[in-house]
Amino acid sequence: MSSRPIRFFHCGAVVEVDDVAPTRTVLDWLREDARRTGTKEGCNEGDCGACTVVVGELPGEATAGTSEVVGGLRLTTANACLQFLPALDGKALFTVEDLLRQHGALHPVQRAMVDCHASQCGFCTPGFVMSLWATYEHHAAGGTRPTRQELADELSGNLCRCTGYRPILDAGERMFDLPVETLDMAPAVAALEAMASLETFRYTPQGGGEFVAPRTLDAFAAERLARPEARLLAGSTDIGLWVNKMFRELPTLLYIGGVEALKRIEVRQGRLSIGAAASLEEGWRALVARWPTLTEVWLRFAGVPLRQAGTMGGNVANGSPIGDSAPVLMALDASLLLRRGERVRRLALADFYTGYM
Ligand code: FES
Ligand code: FES
Repeated sequence: MSSRPIRFFHCGAVVEVDDVAPTRTVLDWLREDARRTGTKEGCNEGDCGACTVVVGELPGEATAGTSEVVGGLRLTTANACLQFLPALDGKALFTVEDLLRQHGALHPVQRAMVDCHASQCGFCTPGFVMSLWATYEHHAAGGTRPTRQELADELSGNLCRCTGYRPILDAGERMFDLPVETLDMAPAVAALEAMASLETFRYTPQGGGEFVAPRTLDAFAAERLARPEARLLAGSTDIGLWVNKMFRELPTLLYIGGVEALKRIEVRQGRLSIGAAASLEEGWRALVARWPTLTEVWLRFAGVPLRQAGTMGGNVANGSPIGDSAPVLMALDASLLLRRGERVRRLALADFYTGYM
């Protein structure tokens, strides 16, 4: 099957990119290639939230009922510094420029930030605005509003070193007092529907490297068998650092995020089953629904953009000593369903780890 450009919806149009390395980050593409510099670079390692963007996806059957779905799109926040551009294929990318483009004047989120004096140097502000915008969209359509504590939880992935959080939280409350202005999702939904495909996406730019994104479980298993050397990529919340901070070469990436079947969370024969590509946010939400005492662990596990991009499968498979899911899952006597080709076996999570990473 042949390579094709990366395609995604951004600032009102479908963008095609075919000349960047598969590990080009969304942040570098935005700032250096597209010259959309509203999105800021702070730490470049997922810690500060200055680079927060919102990703829109058509909800598949695994995510259709979740609270993130607004106007036909599932909206989640992500750290642009950790996401590789090919992982955006078939999705929509919303940045702070979208808010001005649509409204021509300050969006209620931005208006509230100004009114509440919630910005000083402004470096963190676009990231806060995008996290607040996702919260705004999730609530405004249904006429609900978050509590102050919920707002604080939503902003857990954004750091501000000079303004302080009180005025920012004030702005989060104030934005719901202003006349409602939700973004028209219809153009993005139409574009994404036109791009949707069950074919494996292959991106092999002239400069080298390969990004392969199967859409079905069987196709994924077959690709894996054929490419044992490929690096499996899920939410990119750790592998992004290998590129940004360690400058590692990753010639072949096999992306799990396009396999809808692996995003499923369900109860099978009395056991909770979490797909390897289900986000950490969804996985923890399901765990907390069964074991409410885990709520505190969930809310302290990274920040929202990392939990929405990262996956439970990646966190477990990575085997990092700072991968916080494993101890809890072991305490719950979790087991793993492992597949190679057609062969499937079950292994106790406690027996999965053979050493560091
Ligand atoms: Fe700090 Fe991306 S630049 S999280
Ligand atoms: Fe300066 Fe937040 S306004 S870091």
